Amino acid sequence: MKNHQDFRYLMTAKNEKIFNETGKRQKFFIRTYGCQMNSRDSEKMTALLLQIGYEKAETSEEADFILFNTCCVRESAEDKVFGHISRLKNEKIKRPNLIIGICGCMTQQSEIAKKFEEKYSYVNLVFGTSNRQRLPEFIWQTIETGKPVINITEDEGLPEIEDVPVTVRDYPHKAGVNIMFGCDNFCAYCIVPHVRGREKSRPSEDIINEIKSLAKDGVKEIMILGQNVNSYGKGLLEETTFPKLLRKISEIDGIKRIRFMTSHPKDFSDELISVIKDLKNVCKHVHLPLQSGSTKVLTDMNRKYTKEKYQTLVKKIQTEIPEIALTTDIIVGYPGETEEDFIDTLEVVKTTGFSGAFTFIYSKRSGTPAAKRKDLVPKKEVNHRFDRLTETLYPIMESINENKVGKVFKVMVEEENKGRLDDHTLVHFTSDKSFNPGDIINVEITSAKTFYVTGKTIAPKEIH
Ligand code: 5AD
Ligand code: SF4
Repeated sequence: MKNHQDFRYLMTAKNEKIFNETGKRQKFFIRTYGCQMNSRDSEKMTALLLQIGYEKAETSEEADFILFNTCCVRESAEDKVFGHISRLKNEKIKRPNLIIGICGCMTQQSEIAKKFEEKYSYVNLVFGTSNRQRLPEFIWQTIETGKPVINITEDEGLPEIEDVPVTVRDYPHKAGVNIMFGCDNFCAYCIVPHVRGREKSRPSEDIINEIKSLAKDGVKEIMILGQNVNSYGKGLLEETTFPKLLRKISEIDGIKRIRFMTSHPKDFSDELISVIKDLKNVCKHVHLPLQSGSTKVLTDMNRKYTKEKYQTLVKKIQTEIPEIALTTDIIVGYPGETEEDFIDTLEVVKTTGFSGAFTFIYSKRSGTPAAKRKDLVPKKEVNHRFDRLTETLYPIMESINENKVGKVFKVMVEEENKGRLDDHTLVHFTSDKSFNPGDIINVEITSAKTFYVTGKTIAPKEIH
């Protein structure tokens, strides 16, 4: 039986032969949907494809292999994927050798995988989240047999491609690092635990080694990724916790900024608050999904905290770390949400002062407990609440940004004239000098908008 490595050799040889014969390298294009975990997965698959002799295509039109790395958190995300795949049908008729693949959370739902098999038979590869390291094998199989490969087996251990160096990144200076996979929380509306499987933490040594090699490769900012980073360490042989891991990461040479997401309010410990406060390179920003401000709705959602507990936690964080920026996720129109429940959400929004928020309309995901509920909020009412939520949120966000006007902040450059404050605020700046991504510069804020601030550089480039 062949192993992963054998298929990498086989695919490399195949691509080498094509190159010899045609003078052209096979090209791939990955379209990524959804969260930062998916972006990181795409980076890893990119590294794998480059390793086996593919070249990155600028557009899907010039690609020989098009891969959709999907998200299923909301129905609209799935609809987008079906739309894009349908549009590829004609392309496939024109170019029969084109390989089309779909992977990620969406395919991990067996009824969706079946739908691809039955209704989208021109799709060559359908695989899930935990077997993406087998991508070379799947490509090999579909080329050799001419048949689609559908493989969504679960639980093949940690879906890490440990022996492939991931030097391919969307930005040269920053990288996401998974510290855990899956989720055990089973929020009643959420499909993630059903498609990403049980929570599994990576050993801290692996994480540290990955970050050290990223740092050597020029990475200055790390985004630590996990569905619930605060419960990191559960099930590992070593005695460790998320705050302990943060301390170790903060000691790695070259890492100037450490961010993390997502934090579940139920597990946010005092130790974590002190670590964020004490460590200079841990950014003063916490993404703390509220979901709803109503204790009744939170109970229905299985979130395991009340409105008051959330507010107490926020107070504690803000008292300990006054410069902290809090961002959140909020769902409007959860089944059974009354006007009173919604007012509770607005109240928490007003008392917390979020500097950013992802606002969602409840989307029914089959297989979740919430999907069984009949007491849906009428669409018109949901839309009205959604507008009221953003009308409440946006002026608060703008006024938080206005408080920055006239002050000087350290900004990490991301692109030309664009960067981020330590608290993650986006800044557009003017300067007569040019900088590289990852440079840290001083910017004086001159004006504030809802989603960003503008400013000008005030001192020569400063390297820390
Ligand atoms: N409907 C609407 N929003 C959802 N989210 C997760 N599942 C759903 C759903 N079924 C939101 C939550 C979560 C974010 C990543 O997506 O707010 O924190
Ligand atoms: Fe979904 Fe809840 Fe897990 Fe987040 S914590 S991934 S919302 S089940």
